[in-house]
Amino acid sequence: MQSDQSADHLIARQIAYYRARAPEFELSHHEPTSELRSALDAFAPRGRVLELACGTGIWTAEILRHPIDELTCIDAAPEMLAIHEERISDPRVRRERHDLFSWGSDGLRYDAVIFAFWLSHVPPARFAAFWSSVADALADDGRVFFVDDDARAEISEEPIPDAEIPAVLRRLDDGSAHVAIKVFHQPTDLQADLRTLGWAAEVQPAGDRFLVGTARRGET
Ligand SMILES: C[S@@+](CC[C@H](N)C(=O)[O-])C[C@H]1O[C@@H](n2cnc3c(N)ncnc32)[C@H](O)[C@@H]1O
Repeated sequence: MQSDQSADHLIARQIAYYRARAPEFELSHHEPTSELRSALDAFAPRGRVLELACGTGIWTAEILRHPIDELTCIDAAPEMLAIHEERISDPRVRRERHDLFSWGSDGLRYDAVIFAFWLSHVPPARFAAFWSSVADALADDGRVFFVDDDARAEISEEPIPDAEIPAVLRRLDDGSAHVAIKVFHQPTDLQADLRTLGWAAEVQPAGDRFLVGTARRGET
C-alpha cells in the first residue's frame, strides 16, 4: 500500500520536473497525431469545457478548433501556464494554477472535461479520488475525453525499478535527472477500472503507443 506521504513527495517532484521542463517541453512532447485529433473531433466538445494539466496548450489549440463557449485550463506549473498564455490568445480561454490532487471544481459544472497525457501521471492510490473530482466537475450529462500513452510506450522510457509508485526517470537538456509518476495503462484494464468506479467508459488503443478514452457517469 502506498503511503500518502510518498505519493505527496512524488507529486511535488513531478511538478518540479514539469516546471523545469517547460521551456523545452514542446521540443520533446509529441504533437497530436491525426488519429488522436480525429478522436477529439468525433467526441466534438461543446459548451463549457475544462482542460486539466493543459501544459503549454498543445491540446488547448485542438479543443479551440471546436465551437465551444468557454475553456478553463488548469495546470500546476506556472512556467507551463506562462507559455500557454503566450501561445493561446482566445477570449474563450482562462487559466488557473492548481495542483490537481488538492483541486476541486467548487460547484462549477462543465459539459466536457478533457485531459491529454495526464492520467498516466496519476498515482494508483489517487486514481479513484481523481476521477471523483472529475465527476464533481461534470454537468449531469457531461462527458470526459482523454488521450495518453499506453502500455506500449513503456519501452521508450526509463522506469525506476521496484518503485513504490510507478515512476520513470526523465532527463532535461542540461543533464539534470527528474522523476515523474508514470502508470502505463492497458486500455482494456483502464476501461474495466473506470467501469468499476461507475463510469460508462470506452478506452481504445490508438496508433502504436497511445490510448483514447471517453467516459460519462452511469452504466455503459
Ligand atoms: C505530459 S504534460 C501534458 C501537457 C498537455 N496536456 C499536453 O498534452 O501537451 C503533463 C502536465 O501536467 C502538469 N502537472 C503535473 N503535475 C500536476 C499536478 N499535480 N497538478 C496539475 N498539473 C500537473 C505539468 O505541469 C504538465 O503541464
